[in-house]
Amino acid sequence: MRILVVGGAGYVGSHCVRHLLRNGHEVKIYDNLSQGHTGAVPEGLLIEGDLHDTDKLKSVLKQNGIEAVFHFAARALVGESVARPDIYYRTNVTGTLDLLDSMVATGVRKIVFSSTCAVFGVVESPISEDLPKNPINPYGFTKLVIERALTDYAAAFGLEVAVLRYFNACGAADDATIGEDHDPESHLIPLVLQVALGQRPNIRIFGTDYPTPDGTCIRDYVHVDDLADAHLRVLNHTVPGRMVDYNLGTGVGVSVRQVIEAARRVTGLPIEAVEDARRPGDPARLMGNPAKAERELGWKAKFTDIEAVIRSAWAWHHAHPRGFAD
Ligand SMILES: NC(=O)c1ccc[n+]([C@@H]2O[C@H](COP(=O)([O-])OP(=O)(O)OC[C@H]3O[C@@H](n4cnc5c(N)ncnc54)[C@H](O)[C@@H]3O)[C@@H](O)[C@H]2O)c1
Repeated sequence: MRILVVGGAGYVGSHCVRHLLRNGHEVKIYDNLSQGHTGAVPEGLLIEGDLHDTDKLKSVLKQNGIEAVFHFAARALVGESVARPDIYYRTNVTGTLDLLDSMVATGVRKIVFSSTCAVFGVVESPISEDLPKNPINPYGFTKLVIERALTDYAAAFGLEVAVLRYFNACGAADDATIGEDHDPESHLIPLVLQVALGQRPNIRIFGTDYPTPDGTCIRDYVHVDDLADAHLRVLNHTVPGRMVDYNLGTGVGVSVRQVIEAARRVTGLPIEAVEDARRPGDPARLMGNPAKAERELGWKAKFTDIEAVIRSAWAWHHAHPRGFAD
């Protein structure tokens, strides 16, 4: 299939691109490189462009005979979304509507959208698709608005929509040639590995008095290659005029302390941790229920052992301590 990967120079998108190419698909990447990296994508596939440039989008969709769009492009930092909701609504909401309008105008019907567990807000884990969605920050709201818009566009224009809600994306490609490189970095595993690399003095643990076995927050770490696999599978499960949705988590919860301990074992380095107060808005436990994805897509996360996840991330960070700048 001919697929346009929007935001494909970013972390999750670049891993999906590799997976698509390995499985024989024809790929073009559309990215404004605001956070992405040319080094993350194979030569000759990148078209530099912005979501808001609908003329360019339409001509890219048309000229390349695109049959499906994978849409990863977004701003995705919760704290930043509270301070600058304007940027989040503009990029994530208006930008996605620009993309959808360009698809409708050029007759491209299939779209796979990167959503997030942040659309649920505070609910009991494990989180299944049918739980109520009450996001507690602008980032989660922008994604929920688009989930709704996608449902309405599907019904009105016959689009085939898949919404995939990721839990905590992590890990790196099997040959360690691409991996996570965000600036600023906000994800736990790369931050812990930056301590191992001597790039930061310690890792702060926000809250040690949560109602969890070791008092620290529990999250669901889902490997980028497992996410890529789900994207490929869902291509065969879209339905004209409808939105289908899947929560992509491993179903396994890992605490902050367990991540740090696993990173110490993998790297053989001490990794100093400092206990700090809770941050507002951090639920104690966030885990996905992957039953629907397993049942309908035949998808099951291969990476369920946090040490294997960290080994994969460490291979990348160790070989590229300054990310794509190396
Ligand atoms: N990383 C995670 O843990 C996680 C979890 C849940 C959901 N998600 C979602 O998955 C998607 C990908 O996340 P990521 O971690 O790979 O993010 P990323 O920042 O690494 O990638 C996003 C890409 O989109 C591009 N982009 C941003 N604005 C654009 C615009 N206006 N026009 C064109 N390109 C633009 C950026 O340059 C970047 O390459 C996002 O939609 C995010 O909300 C990520």
